[in-house]
Amino acid sequence: MKIAVIGTGYVGLVVGACFAENGNDVMCVDKDGAKIRALQRGRIPIFEPGLEELVRRNRSEGRLSFTTTVARAVRVSQVVFIAVGTPMGEDGSADLQHVLEVAREIARAMNGYTVIVNKSTVPVGTAERVRAVIRRETTHPFSVVSNPEFLKQGAAIEDFMKPDRVVIGAEDPRAGTLMRELYSPFTRTGAPIMVMDCASAELCKYAANAMLAARVSFMNEIANVCDAVGADVDHVRQAVASDRRIGPSFLFPGVGYGGSCFPKDVKALLRFSREQKYDFQILKAVEAVNEAQKARLLAKLDAHFGSLKGKTIAVWGLSFKPKTDDMREAPAITVVHGLLSRGARVQAFDPEAQKTARVIFGTRITYARSSYDALGSADALVIMTEWNEFRRPDFARMKRLMRQPVVFDGRNIYEPANMRERGFTYHSIGRP
Ligand SMILES: NC(=O)c1ccc[n+]([C@@H]2O[C@H](COP(=O)([O-])OP(=O)(O)OC[C@H]3O[C@@H](n4cnc5c(N)ncnc54)[C@H](O)[C@@H]3O)[C@@H](O)[C@H]2O)c1
Repeated sequence: MKIAVIGTGYVGLVVGACFAENGNDVMCVDKDGAKIRALQRGRIPIFEPGLEELVRRNRSEGRLSFTTTVARAVRVSQVVFIAVGTPMGEDGSADLQHVLEVAREIARAMNGYTVIVNKSTVPVGTAERVRAVIRRETTHPFSVVSNPEFLKQGAAIEDFMKPDRVVIGAEDPRAGTLMRELYSPFTRTGAPIMVMDCASAELCKYAANAMLAARVSFMNEIANVCDAVGADVDHVRQAVASDRRIGPSFLFPGVGYGGSCFPKDVKALLRFSREQKYDFQILKAVEAVNEAQKARLLAKLDAHFGSLKGKTIAVWGLSFKPKTDDMREAPAITVVHGLLSRGARVQAFDPEAQKTARVIFGTRITYARSSYDALGSADALVIMTEWNEFRRPDFARMKRLMRQPVVFDGRNIYEPANMRERGFTYHSIGRP
């Protein structure tokens, strides 16, 4: 099938590369000329495991190409995916300006029946708005489909290639059939393709992200109660997770969720519920708990040191989660700013996100060459992201490098008893 993907970010590039890998002809579009030039030279502008190889192979085999011109891609495609950003607007709603702008450009370029698929995360009613925009601009027949994306950064290719389910909002049977055909190679293991109305499809994505965010905030509150009463959240989590009605995913307490999706999607769902006069009470608490949780480690540092003025703090991990260079809404941003505002010096290391971090913090922090390099004369280490390489470090070497062997572990990656045996003062989340 001939496909266009507009927006070549974390989602669009993965979607384009994976469809090409299954034999489709895909043209990816982005308005960011530098990004497209890099991709045309075989360079991947983001870090996502396995993506570089996939893009390179499909490009060299002629199934994947890149352009900055929407019209060029639309004219040769039967199916056009919109995968541009829907960032948080000032009032918390999803900002749809890029989606609607792209819809207009697609409509102007269409030269026959086209299926326009919205893959960006958008509030209920957006398919209708996209349809209206296109109708105003063209007389060609078209269908609008909602096809929310559930991939996780860090495992995006695996998630897209082997989805738990594919959700398709299609009110037009012709478009529904085409979408089923397109996705059938990805669902051979039995994952369902769920076809429904567009409003329900649009809501699926928000409901899933809100539920996951709620699990994280719920478990963070349980961890905070553990801190208060001297219980161990690891035991509590394992017992809760073994209940088949609950299951183990997304029950790890920590420093709060971040990323490009949960914070903005929780806000957007709250916002469009409120617009319909519905007060989504649980979600308000999910968000408030998360904001408070981001400051939890800072409170522990304050309690330990009294004052952080003049202290040198090493930070391991800046990205919002491992295996990505993405720092959008990362809890590390709150913690680093908190440390700086208290007069501490910050020496940070992240395996992939340092380039991103430089844009955020500039020269206000020091960027270390390695995890050990960050520890030089540090009064404490703060762990913000559970990258694999932080899990089994050389603890003796760490102690030699640090001024004081104090660790604040925001991801609970070490055993408290072992750390004490090794001579560290060790603080984590919800564990005595
Ligand atoms: N990142 C994720 O893990 C994830 C997962 C599922 C769904 N989503 C949703 O997918 C959408 C895209 O997210 P992302 O993380 O890929 O965003 P991103 O910011 O990484 O990429 C968006 C891209 O769209 C491009 N763009 C914007 N306007 C354009 C235009 N008019 N023409 C051409 N290109 C344009 C930008 O230059 C950018 O490269 C969002 O709605 C997001 O909520 C993201």
